[in-house]
Amino acid sequence: MADLIRMVGITKYYGRVRALEDVDFSVREQEIVGLLGDNGAGKSTLIKVLSGAVPVTSGEIWVRGEKAEIRSTTDAIRYGIETIYQDSALVTQLSIARNLFLGREPVKGPRWLGRMDLAAMNEVASGLLRKVGIEKRIPPETPIAALSGGERQAVAIARAMHFDSDLIVLDEPTNNLGVAETQGVLNFVRGARASGHSCIFIAHNIHHVFQVVDRIVVMRRGRVVADDIDPKASSVEAVEQVITGMTAEGVPVGE
Ligand SMILES: Nc1ncnc2c1ncn2[C@@H]1O[C@H](COP(=O)(O)OP(=O)(O)OP(=O)(O)O)[C@@H](O)[C@H]1O
Ligand SMILES: [Mg+2]
Repeated sequence: MADLIRMVGITKYYGRVRALEDVDFSVREQEIVGLLGDNGAGKSTLIKVLSGAVPVTSGEIWVRGEKAEIRSTTDAIRYGIETIYQDSALVTQLSIARNLFLGREPVKGPRWLGRMDLAAMNEVASGLLRKVGIEKRIPPETPIAALSGGERQAVAIARAMHFDSDLIVLDEPTNNLGVAETQGVLNFVRGARASGHSCIFIAHNIHHVFQVVDRIVVMRRGRVVADDIDPKASSVEAVEQVITGMTAEGVPVGE
């Protein structure tokens, strides 16, 4: 499969802190990539650069073989990149249904009247909530402020599912989730390939990553230290060593 996304020589400084150093990272079409690394390794920064949330210091991003200028999340969405952040961006005063359609609301009647089709939004929202594993019957009119952290994350995931982005980026989507919701997310990531999507999946739970991804990329201190680990041909322990740079005995790898 061809490359959907190619990031080349990405370096990012936050003031004097170097968060990324000369990172090359790519995702092929219909590929699920697991991005692993310890706290502060640079995972979130890399995907924030890709999704236009933070400006890059230097480096290039290519989408489907064309150089892309991604300066905002709106730019990223135009390139088909939808990101669900660790601290997901939802408008807490608005309902679940309104958040799902934010900026892309279906209209009812003549377009110039600009009347939102609330009934249609509510119906789609109900179906999506069930799909992401929220079994509890939460009315789609419920404001986000009344939801738990996990439920909020599920709403953000539902949004990416509905709008059919080419690349869905999930930054620790299972962090605050219960068992049913976690299974919902893992099933969604598994199903992403079959429905023609690519996915970047960041999680600290390596077992979850092993269950769903095609390829594992490991970052350490702002650099990519492995970019072609096949979860079917590798063990969790071996990947843990790559993440920490230490053997199980606490000896630096390669010494
Ligand atoms: N807004 C910021 N300002 C300054 N430094 C930052 C900022 N965001 C991140 N950093 C620094 O950049 C480095 C990489 O952080 P990043 O959030 O990308 O790591 P991460 O791999 O996502 O970690 P975690 O697993 O804890 O989420 C860290 O040293 C962090 O302290
Ligand atoms: Mg992070």
